[in-house]
Amino acid sequence: MSRIELININKYYGDNHVLKNLNLTIEDGDFMTLLGPSGCGKTTTLRVVSGLERPQGGVMLIDGKEAINAENAFYLEPSKRGLNLVFQSYALWPHMTVKQNIAFGLKIQKLSKAEVEKRVTDSLKMMRIEEYVNRYPNELSGGQQQRVAIARAVASNPRLLLLDEPLSNLDARLRIDMRSELQRLHRELGTTIIYVTHDQVEALTMSTKIALFKAGELSQVSTPVELYMNPIDLQAADFIGNPRINLLEGKAKLRGDGTLEVHSALGDHVFPKGDLTNETIPSGEFDVVLATRPEQVHIETRAADGNLPVKVYANQPAGSETLVSLQAGKSDFLAKQLGLVHYDINQQVYVRIDPTKINVYNAQTTRLIKRTSL
Ligand SMILES: Nc1ncnc2c1ncn2[C@@H]1O[C@H](COP(=O)(O)OP(=O)(O)OP(=O)(O)O)[C@@H](O)[C@H]1O
Ligand SMILES: [Mg+2]
Repeated sequence: MSRIELININKYYGDNHVLKNLNLTIEDGDFMTLLGPSGCGKTTTLRVVSGLERPQGGVMLIDGKEAINAENAFYLEPSKRGLNLVFQSYALWPHMTVKQNIAFGLKIQKLSKAEVEKRVTDSLKMMRIEEYVNRYPNELSGGQQQRVAIARAVASNPRLLLLDEPLSNLDARLRIDMRSELQRLHRELGTTIIYVTHDQVEALTMSTKIALFKAGELSQVSTPVELYMNPIDLQAADFIGNPRINLLEGKAKLRGDGTLEVHSALGDHVFPKGDLTNETIPSGEFDVVLATRPEQVHIETRAADGNLPVKVYANQPAGSETLVSLQAGKSDFLAKQLGLVHYDINQQVYVRIDPTKINVYNAQTTRLIKRTSL
């Protein structure tokens, strides 16, 4: 268990400013996922926390104690940080069997033989690789090696577990199983976990908190639900969610009573003052972007109060769900319907969207101005 604070961390590789004044606190017991596109600095952040990289500036505290101080003078050795790291590329000892790989670190910790046995067995069982206990790494597939690497990290009972895309080599099914295993592991051991991925589903399903990166900076740190329902800017909105969020242009005006009047292809709305964020709202009429998730768009076949006529553009049946592309005026958007449904191309249908589930962004600043209340 540990609490990590990163304060104004800056990291350069040559001229490349990879981490820009990074501020992030990982609370004791958090499952914190660093999420973002390739090259945004996720692995670098993990390497700074682990001590494999020295930042050019900033402070890092582990449980309130300095591991890196402002003058970069005090620098706690990686081995003294009480953590365990599993890399994107898993580094197993090639000349040792799976069992020896896991037991090695435990013997250094001077654990009893029985305890070592138990930890090896438990960790292999958890990662579902008991049958490979006596194999060498070169006799294992990439996904199996990856699981051994996780088992080895878990077996040492670290207070902080750093995982860099540990499931990247697993097939889709195993990855889903491993997500549950990692969640269980987190709950049972109470270990603080920092987890790196560019897979948003992984991030949304396992984490207690997500730090969304954008080119070396954090754009949002929040719970998965908050990130999904209220992305802080249009970039975050577009990055999170598959199928992607619907974005529609509109015009807005702040009324004298503090409510927000919005006109778009989704019709006319007046959003209550209480749903507006702290962002400054321009005076007079201004451009906005409305955002709503495909699962919030409900299709009805008859005109009724509060629904809106649209045309069906295409159907994409996918077994458990169907994506329906719709057109309202010049705007098109997606509706996600449960199960297999079919509409005729060009069929006139009606959509209903709960206004509380519509987010509004200032088109110019791209920031969220009206949120979904959870
Ligand atoms: N040792 C290094 N020397 C020079 N540049 C580096 C080094 N390591 C990383 N970089 C650069 O720093 C930036 C961030 O890299 P990082 O590995 O942190 O990205 P990432 O978010 O983990 O990406 P990915 O999802 O592809 O693993 C990239 O532009 C990368 O090219
Ligand atoms: Mg990486």
